[in-house]
Amino acid sequence: MPPLRVRDAILRSTMGEKNNVFSAVAAPLLQWYDENKRDLPWRRNTDPYRVWVSEIMLQQTRVAAVIPYYERWMCALPDVQTLAAADEAQLMKLWQGLGYYSRARNLQKAAKQIVEEYGGQFPDRYEKLLKLPGVGEYTAGAVASIAFSEKVGAVDGNVLRIAARLGAMETDILDPRMKKMVRGMLDAVIPEDRSGDFNQALMDLGATVCLPGGRPVCECCPLAGQCEARRLGRQQELPLRGKKKARRIEEMTVYLLLRGGEVALRKRSEDGLLAGLWEFPYVSGRLSEAEAVQPLSGWGVTARDWKKAIPAKHVFTHVEWHMNGYMLDIAGEGAEDFLWVDRNTLETLAIPTAFKTYYTECMSALGK
Ligand code: ADE
Repeated sequence: MPPLRVRDAILRSTMGEKNNVFSAVAAPLLQWYDENKRDLPWRRNTDPYRVWVSEIMLQQTRVAAVIPYYERWMCALPDVQTLAAADEAQLMKLWQGLGYYSRARNLQKAAKQIVEEYGGQFPDRYEKLLKLPGVGEYTAGAVASIAFSEKVGAVDGNVLRIAARLGAMETDILDPRMKKMVRGMLDAVIPEDRSGDFNQALMDLGATVCLPGGRPVCECCPLAGQCEARRLGRQQELPLRGKKKARRIEEMTVYLLLRGGEVALRKRSEDGLLAGLWEFPYVSGRLSEAEAVQPLSGWGVTARDWKKAIPAKHVFTHVEWHMNGYMLDIAGEGAEDFLWVDRNTLETLAIPTAFKTYYTECMSALGK
């Protein structure tokens, strides 16, 4: 491995015009896009609000999963003013199941900022967009190019993969310098008149043709003739990607506390994972039945009866929840720290997908 300074110099040297892996890409890519682009609801016009909401939803979620959420959101909150004025419970309900709920909260924070600081006019430059909560370089690039035709790239994992293959590049795509280099290459070649289409064409190519791992469909690729990885037969082994840190495993015991047709819920803390959402009470650790009695007195409840609930697992980006649970028939009054809700109210609340198994079990226990 050469010393850092030398490696930087090598990286910089690949930024020159001659080494720009995208230098001859625009024409064939845009022609391919015109013939093959996906018909997606956020592509019906270039209203910046619509483009922005779609890009935030698409940040961690696949296109097919986003579409129904997007349609519902646009019916309920068609512009930045309605979003700024919406109540939090409605937002959380519209977002329920998409995950990473801070995205929805940031959307509203940004909407309020746009209404208050920009008089409801959407900021129209990359640098201004970057200042909105929840908007990073990728999203700012996508919105600036699609909605405002700014000549700026949007680099995500798909684009990094395409770049690495086009140039048979050996830099780890998780290395931040790879992103910087690819962004520089894109900014240099993005066509003035079709910057949004160019970025979206790369997104479509990454999602439908230049697929990860052993699955690229090179026969259908408009860039196959200029792809160095394909020429070398290395398209399946590129890009190189360093090992991610293993996810932390959290064992937990979930309590479905039922009393007179109602179930107990607790509000999560206002920061951290799933901030501010409703959850079923739980404690850390995989507790046996004998151990699981312990927390009840602290909560001020007594159980008449119990049964084991179904174990469940939920995978987040950095942590996995391994859950087991108990369903309890609770006697007496008290336990005012919890919100006790009936079936109808439970249905209106945004319970994170992580608790889906227990939500379903509760809905059927609470009956009609
Ligand atoms: N992924 C992120 N942004 C996208 C867009 N505008 N179209 C399709 N896929 C995307």
